Amino acid sequence: MFRLLLMNFLLLGFTACHDDRQTVEFDGKLLTEKYCSSCHDLHIPPVISDDELAPPMLAISVHIPELVSVSNESERTSKAIDFVVDYVRDPSAEKAFCDKKSIKRYGLMPSQKERVSKEEAKAIATYMFQHYTQENLTKKMKEKVEFDALDPGRKVALKYRCLGCHKVDRKLIGPSFIAIAKRHVDAKEKMIKSIKEGSKERWESSNGAIMPPFKQISDDELEILLVWILGFDT
Ligand code: HEC
Ligand code: HEC
Repeated sequence: MFRLLLMNFLLLGFTACHDDRQTVEFDGKLLTEKYCSSCHDLHIPPVISDDELAPPMLAISVHIPELVSVSNESERTSKAIDFVVDYVRDPSAEKAFCDKKSIKRYGLMPSQKERVSKEEAKAIATYMFQHYTQENLTKKMKEKVEFDALDPGRKVALKYRCLGCHKVDRKLIGPSFIAIAKRHVDAKEKMIKSIKEGSKERWESSNGAIMPPFKQISDDELEILLVWILGFDT
């Protein structure tokens, strides 16, 4: 909710600064989230659910350029953009590329004419065909496979950005995890306290840098983190 309000604020603030409508540059990503996310899933890969209201954005975006008719290959993207700009404001079963069965399942998309201007629709469509692509899907899937293969401790450390201040094998802003593991082999409780409440003046090597408290880390995550960090005491 807060993000939505903030988004509205940014958009209003932004457009209000410009008198000349032509100079307004719309942010396709924000507009897509604002106007399309209530029905279309925007994740890559999509989060598919049984009660979804519309096809996922990725599915639409990958298929439309393949299906629009073109006289020249180079105009495929611009024709796809034209199709979306028109469809968003004036959808119909005749125009739809969506097969009859899907239209029956979801119902026809309600016109967004009252909500989305032509310029906004164009910014959205441009963003769609840049972002929701087969290449991006492949990239995200690869990243996910790599992330899944990481040590669970490293995943938690990434989640809470510990690695912005700590490296495993050398001092960064805070001490290396190897140094921490060596000092605290038998002091697990003390480490938990330091992570939850923050730490200062315990490490001369940090030159007065302090570690902020991480109160929001769950007990399970702390356990995973500690097993990982203490494992560097070898
Ligand atoms: C109120 C729900 C709703 C909203 C909001 C919505 N859509 Fe849809 N959309 C649908 C449904 C349902 C379908 C599938 C049926 C159809 O194709 O009309 C669909 C299909 C589409 C299609 C595929 C058309 C085809 O069949 O070839 C496109 C393109 C599309 N939406 C774009 C958008 C964009 C862009 C936005 C945001 C500006 C948006 N939609 C917002 C419900 C919605
Ligand atoms: C903003 C930088 C920063 C971040 C982010 C950070 N740390 Fe630290 N950390 C430090 C500094 C600096 C110290 C040394 C502070 C001192 O001298 O007491 C430290 C010390 C520690 C210590 C040793 C405390 C002690 O009692 O000796 C542990 C354990 C630790 N960090 C774990 C973590 C973990 C786990 C995370 C992520 C949840 C994390 N840190 C995130 C900067 C950071």
